Amino acid sequence: MTSETAAAGSTADQVDGLPPSPAVWCSGLRKRYGRQTAVDDVSFTVARGEVLGLLGPNGAGKTSVIKMLLGLVRPDAGEVLLLGRRASDPRSRSAVGYLPELFRYQPWLTAAEVLDLHVKLARVDVGASERRECLALVGLADRAGDRVGGFSKGMQQRLGLAVALVARPELVVLDEPTSALDPLGRVDVRDLVLSLRSRGVTVLLNSHLIGEVERVCDRVVILDKGRVAASGTLAELLGQREVRLRLGAADGRVEDRLRAAGALSRSGDWFTVALPADDDGVTVPDLVRDLVGLGVRVHAVEPVRISLEERLLAVLRHEEPAP
Ligand SMILES: Nc1ncnc2c1ncn2[C@@H]1O[C@H](COP(=O)(O)OP(=O)(O)O)[C@@H](O)[C@H]1O
Ligand SMILES: [Mg+2]
Repeated sequence: MTSETAAAGSTADQVDGLPPSPAVWCSGLRKRYGRQTAVDDVSFTVARGEVLGLLGPNGAGKTSVIKMLLGLVRPDAGEVLLLGRRASDPRSRSAVGYLPELFRYQPWLTAAEVLDLHVKLARVDVGASERRECLALVGLADRAGDRVGGFSKGMQQRLGLAVALVARPELVVLDEPTSALDPLGRVDVRDLVLSLRSRGVTVLLNSHLIGEVERVCDRVVILDKGRVAASGTLAELLGQREVRLRLGAADGRVEDRLRAAGALSRSGDWFTVALPADDDGVTVPDLVRDLVGLGVRVHAVEPVRISLEERLLAVLRHEEPAP
């Protein structure tokens, strides 16, 4: 995105000794289109370095929220701070990379030229080798000199990702980054988000592919009909985990040991143990060690957790209260 290069204000707005402001802060966002309420009192925060997934069915208001965060749509009400600056201040967007949901690049430009153009617009000094690396990162290394007009939808999306990443953003906003990608491309994007996270870059990701979000996101905000229907870490949203074990001939001592680990239910030779919410990761290994010690044969140990998809559907169908 475009930026003011002026160094003025780069640190002036930050007060020494205070923790850095969140990457994204929004409060009470509302937007109506005619009689249609697209976004209705949406508030959330994305901490620095966090990967946040924005989930929800088509028309839930995800893209509208993103556009209001980025100053592309004017909210009817509500406030936005990006990287500590008001959204009305263009400098708030100088360190933001954005992949729009729908976009088209100039078909007569090559991939490398599109990237050069956006580097110029961002007024960030990104050398030729770094630009080439960026194209390689999204799998377009050997298409740098080809015109965008001949690109498939998936290749255009890859180029869009390169554009979002090329100016070394502190915050990356990806609106449906994998909608046009094949399964391999989706894995690439997942790895890309994970590598951004490992470098401390904040990512706000909107995807309808829930499995993807589940793998990469620290926290999730679920939107439904323009409102926040649920939000939290995956652990908070998905709740208690269970472990299923298939055991050979289990006697009373074995059942007692299983019960000591958590609430127990049994179906044939399958035993399901509900793990404590504060499980520190040793409950299952200790249990298996003790079971083996008791002389029981352990044929299978399977973690059970409701999937984010199940949770999302339950929230959207109002089957359970939002946390
Ligand atoms: N520019 C617009 N003009 C009219 N209605 C719009 C516009 N943008 C979004 N909407 C409406 O707002 C609602 C939310 O849309 P959107 O934010 O794109 O949802 P999502 O990204 O979750 O699919 C939809 O009902 C959509 O039709
Ligand atoms: Mg959308």
